Amino acid sequence: MPSLGQDAKKAAAGERVYTTYCATCHGDALVSSGQTFDLRRLRKDERPRFENAVQNGKGQMPPWKGVVSVEEMDLIWHYIRTLANDRDQ
Ligand code: HEC
Repeated sequence: MPSLGQDAKKAAAGERVYTTYCATCHGDALVSSGQTFDLRRLRKDERPRFENAVQNGKGQMPPWKGVVSVEEMDLIWHYIRTLANDRDQ
């Protein structure tokens, strides 16, 4: 399974991007304090929802377009998938 190692690398890089831009509001290791959406709740098939919210912002969250690149967004998504509530499904 050649894709496994690649995914793990992306997840590790994604954790660094997440810690830089997102953790202040969304919490360490994605554990939300309750003030923000808990990113572990994003389901496998909700990548479009994730990308739309990150690029365009939502509610109290500013848009990240131009700050977080498409590639970095992909890395964050891989990181979220490793901790998501439905990761074993
Ligand atoms: C300034 C605080 C703040 C930062 C920094 C922040 N967010 Fe958010 N985020 C929020 C808040 C507040 C919400 C809830 C918005 C709402 O539903 O009104 C949210 C919601 C979301 C959602 C869910 C939107 C939905 O569909 O319900 C995603 C996905 C998300 N953030 C991803 C990210 C990512 C990835 C980063 C880092 C690049 C990030 N956020 C950084 C405050 C923040």
